[in-house]
Amino acid sequence: MSKVLVTGGTGYIGSHTVVELINEGFEVVIVDNLSNSNVDVLDGIEKITGIRPAFENIDCVDYVAMSNMLDKHNDIESIIHFAASKAVGESVEKPLLYYRNNLVSLINILQLMPVYKIKNFVFSSSCTVYGQPDILPVTEDAPIKVALSPYGNTKQIGEEIIRDTIYANPSLYQSVILRYFNPIGAHASAEIGELPNGVPNNLLPFVTQTAIGIRKQLQVFGDDYNTPDGSCIRDYIHVVDLAKAHVVAVQRMMFGKSKENIEIFNLGTGRGLSVLEIIKSFEKVNEVKVPYKIVGRREGDIEKVWADPTYANEVLGWKATETVEETLRSAWAWELNLAKRSKL
Ligand code: NAD
Ligand code: WQD
Repeated sequence: MSKVLVTGGTGYIGSHTVVELINEGFEVVIVDNLSNSNVDVLDGIEKITGIRPAFENIDCVDYVAMSNMLDKHNDIESIIHFAASKAVGESVEKPLLYYRNNLVSLINILQLMPVYKIKNFVFSSSCTVYGQPDILPVTEDAPIKVALSPYGNTKQIGEEIIRDTIYANPSLYQSVILRYFNPIGAHASAEIGELPNGVPNNLLPFVTQTAIGIRKQLQVFGDDYNTPDGSCIRDYIHVVDLAKAHVVAVQRMMFGKSKENIEIFNLGTGRGLSVLEIIKSFEKVNEVKVPYKIVGRREGDIEKVWADPTYANEVLGWKATETVEETLRSAWAWELNLAKRSKL
């Protein structure tokens, strides 16, 4: 059974990816410092899969701790690196925290891989590297724009670090860079999902928390954009679809199907939806109301972005299949389950 290290594996996307890896027969080791997640996520993974993955409470920035972990788990064949800080606004206030956390963790892993003869590497990147694309839908060869935040810059620099490292040592690495669009929703079991710390920055957790009454009202950041209904457009992808792409990426590298030392794929649905469309669809699908108010634009927001997923569909052999209705239903089921748990 092939063993995969998943850093950030108790996080939102990581935990869903761990489930899909286990479903595909992989053995998983999770490294997470629980800076933005909870160890109880392991219970959810175990409830879904019947398997509790090995868990190491380690900071990826700690080289020695990571090396000792790899001594212990010395049969890891692939690494999926989710571990990072990801709050755009916080990154503007605390840039050095983001540069240290997101870049030193990446550098540690890239330095350790050849030492432990681990070749396969999947990196969590983001459509944020494109900024506001000139052409939509956006393809992988779209120009990289100047980052609008230190967080977005850590993704751009991260991709460059990977590129330069592999260029210098092509025989030592095989890498897939996955640029996520907007992951939303939760596993169908509602045993795992998005667990934002404090007030959510992202749209969907704010929608579900407003619908359930935790938040009084959703603020819609602007309806004066050059879009059909004036609100921003994004490519919302079910987190389980996203998770499955990581399994395909690891298998691609394991079975020697990669055409280049580094392959980059956009992970989106190819479908752009506006904020107001998401709200209306969420209300319809779940038969709930989401009180909202149109307010001013949020600084740093881009107007519209959605993926051209053709390359991932045709070359990676992966396609997002969940409907937006199912995705929004899963987000609500997760919020309801959280509410039930909090009453226990
Ligand atoms: P998340 O915060 O839920 O998960 C990240 C996990 O990494 C958390 O469990 C956190 O505790 C852990 N972590 C952070 N720093 C660490 C460190 N130094 N050592 C060990 N563990 C550490 O975030 P997510 O939404 O699951 O995102 C996962 C990855 O995907 C991140 O790299 C993020 O930048 C990227 N990404 C996320 C989105 C999104 O909208 N969620 C979009 C594009 C890219
Ligand atoms: C989506 C839309 C908001 C909240 C961010 C990061 C990106 C990536 C994904 C890590 C926007 C609107 C939101 C609210 C709103 N993260 N909105 N009211 O901004 O596309 O991307 O998360 O990689 O790097 O930038 O996602 O969910 O924050 O916003 O109107 O309370 O919803 O203006 O148009 P975004 P989001």
